[in-house]
Amino acid sequence: MDELLCEIANGVAVVTMNRPAQRNAMTLAMWRGIGELFEKLDADRCVRAIMLTGAGEDFSAGADIGEFGAIRDDTAQAVAYEEAVDFGCGAIAAAGKPVVAATKGYCLGGGAHLAMSCDFRFSHANAVFGIPAARLSIVYGVQGTRKLLSLVGLTEAKRIMYSAERFDAAHALSTGFVDHVSGQPMADAMDFALKLSDNAPLSIRGAKYILTSSALGTFDPREADRLINAASASADYREGREAFAEKRPPRFKGE
Ligand code: COA
Repeated sequence: MDELLCEIANGVAVVTMNRPAQRNAMTLAMWRGIGELFEKLDADRCVRAIMLTGAGEDFSAGADIGEFGAIRDDTAQAVAYEEAVDFGCGAIAAAGKPVVAATKGYCLGGGAHLAMSCDFRFSHANAVFGIPAARLSIVYGVQGTRKLLSLVGLTEAKRIMYSAERFDAAHALSTGFVDHVSGQPMADAMDFALKLSDNAPLSIRGAKYILTSSALGTFDPREADRLINAASASADYREGREAFAEKRPPRFKGE
């Protein structure tokens, strides 16, 4: 879809939310579309890392509030809407490869949920963050709230939620909401994504599952065992040992 762009080069997929005139506010169709896109990228063996960013000045000003009257009006619609948000953000968090957000400008509400669903947040120094659910009488979703708690801790999460105040990149860095601030987040995020894409995909997939599911309270030991055993049985495990013995860099294939 035109509102979601995707380009793949050198094993890194760059996903761009593309409604710059609306500060990349997410429509219902975009929540569903981003979930489907991340499921496809997860299944694509050529993709070793993913970046998420916004077109124009901003990352995303969150859910498209203009749509709410038509599609998030009553409780049933609100439930269906939150399912779409969770599907989109859940697919980002569940993708078994590193996902790096490059944020700039506004990153608010649902935009913050998208950024928090990524493994890392590289931010422009001009970025402005916030979760204004308490200015709309909305309870921010369970998944997004848990991600916030795991990033910044209980008291800061409450401050962000109760106050609905915006905060800048320096504050976001000091609380752990973002983990890198610079004047060129895209370039820095790309360097980082390329570096990660050299490492063993099955190691990263296993680590991501254990860490993310533990943080979200969805950890299943059988799934962890499956991923650990898949790595132990992989050709990449043999390649890693051979490369070590031959004193050369390993060439991993993710199998
Ligand atoms: N949903 C729908 N449209 C949005 C939007 C959102 N979340 N955020 C911005 N837009 C639209 C504006 O309506 C405006 O459209 P228009 O030109 O047709 O009027 C356009 O994007 C530019 O935004 P504007 O408000 O004119 O820019 P600004 O610099 O004055 O303010 C924000 C920027 C982000 C502070 C302000 O738009 C805002 O508060 N947005 C809502 C943020 C929010 O509550 N997000 C949480 C949603 S869950």
